[in-house]
This record gives sequence, structure tokens and C-alpha cells, in this order.
Amino acid sequence: MPKKAAKTPETLGLTERMTQKEAKKWVGLDFATKQPQFEQKHLTEFAFCNFYSFYEEIARWIPDGGTWVEIGLAWGESFRWGVCACLNEGKNVRMVGVDAFPDAWHHNGTPMEQMFHNHMQPFAGHYETIRAESSEAAANFVDGAVDFVFIDANHTAEFVRRDVLAWLPKVKNGGIIAGHDYNAPHEVKQVVDEIFGIKVVPIPSDDFDAEHRPFYSWKVQL
Ligand SMILES: C[S@@+](CC[C@H](N)C(=O)[O-])C[C@H]1O[C@@H](n2cnc3c(N)ncnc32)[C@H](O)[C@@H]1O
Repeated sequence: MPKKAAKTPETLGLTERMTQKEAKKWVGLDFATKQPQFEQKHLTEFAFCNFYSFYEEIARWIPDGGTWVEIGLAWGESFRWGVCACLNEGKNVRMVGVDAFPDAWHHNGTPMEQMFHNHMQPFAGHYETIRAESSEAAANFVDGAVDFVFIDANHTAEFVRRDVLAWLPKVKNGGIIAGHDYNAPHEVKQVVDEIFGIKVVPIPSDDFDAEHRPFYSWKVQL
């Protein structure tokens, strides 16, 4: 039987780290300022991502061969950046995206799922998706299998609680569970604080509100 080739950057066709110019082209991020380039409207007009630096930090932290799951993909802006950041680190990370991709979400008739894959096209072969309700998708993983999970799906208290409790057992000891929109008016903070208490570390966003205050994501290292 032919030996299965190891999944390395080379066998994936990535002979060298993606250049900053290439990554910038696809992700719409100005590497000098670390700010999204809002003039690249064709890439960023659907973006909800304001945590590019946090994803860079996670890409540096996550072990080679690790597993990264993002819950709530929309058009793929943050997920694409996570995939890109791991490749730039020269790491072979299993990247899994979860979204229900509701049929009602489309852009000029193109379904959200198709838009997502169009945006991810430069990274084809470097990611997987699970089209499912967020908490139910956790059943695809054995306990302790995931290094990093980022929750950015339904932000109401009921769903945040359900997602956190479904995904928490899947994260390994020393792994990180995190999520977006820790700040009001979302109901994320009340649930996350109730479950994790003082273990929660707020993560400031790359952008600011009108009073120059950052928004926040959250993370807990287990
Ligand atoms: C805020 S958007 C994600 C934005 C994306 N992480 C980014 O920064 O570019 C929320 C996404 O979560 C998905 N979603 C919401 N509730 C969900 C659920 N219960 N199960 C699965 N997906 C869900 C929606 O379809 C939507 O694509």
C-alpha cells in the first residue's frame, strides 16, 4: 500500500510561507499598521472581524498539528485570517469552521455558504467546515481533542450558554476557549462570567468605538 504523505506545508503545496503581500491581498489587512484596509470593500464589506491581532497571537501559540475550531463563520473574514495566520507561522493546524449557513442569508442571490467558500478559495485544502447547529456540531469531536475554540455564533444568553457548555469538554487541558463580543449590549459577558468567573481574560479589539474605546472578545485558558 502506498505510504500516505504526511500533511506538511510542503505536501499541501505551500513551499514557502505566504508572503505578507499575498496575505494582505486576500485578507485585507495592512501589515504595517495591523489595521484592516477598509478600502478593500470587496473583501471586507461583510466582515464582523475586529480580532486579527488575537488570531495572530493564537496562531503563534497553537502547537503544530493542533486543532482550531471557529463557531460562526458568516462570510469567512475571521476564519480566513485564522487559516492564513497559521500558514504564515508554518504550522499544520487542523482548521474546522462551523456554521448553520441559514438559507435566508445570501448576497444578491448567492447563498452565504457559497460566499464563504468563495472568500476561502485561496485557502482551499487548508480548512474543513461542518454545516450544523453550533452546539450539535461539538458531537463531531471527542472530549479533549481541540486546542482552541472561538465562539461567534448566536449572541443571546441561551445560545451562548449552550455553545460554551457543549464545546468546553472538547477543549484539552491547557487549551483555550474564547469568543467574540464580550461587551454590551450583547448577552455574552453575563453568561461567560457566570460560567468562568475570574478566569475570563478580556481581549481588546483592533478597532475602537467613537470614544476610542476598544470592543472586547474573551478567552479562558483551561
Ligand atoms: C457574527 S457572524 C460570524 C462572523 C465571523 N466569525 C467573522 O468574524 O467574520 C455569526 C454567524 O453565526 C452563525 N450562527 C448563528 N447562530 C448559529 C447556530 N445556532 N448554529 C450555527 N451557526 C450559527 C450565523 O449563520 C453567522 O454566520
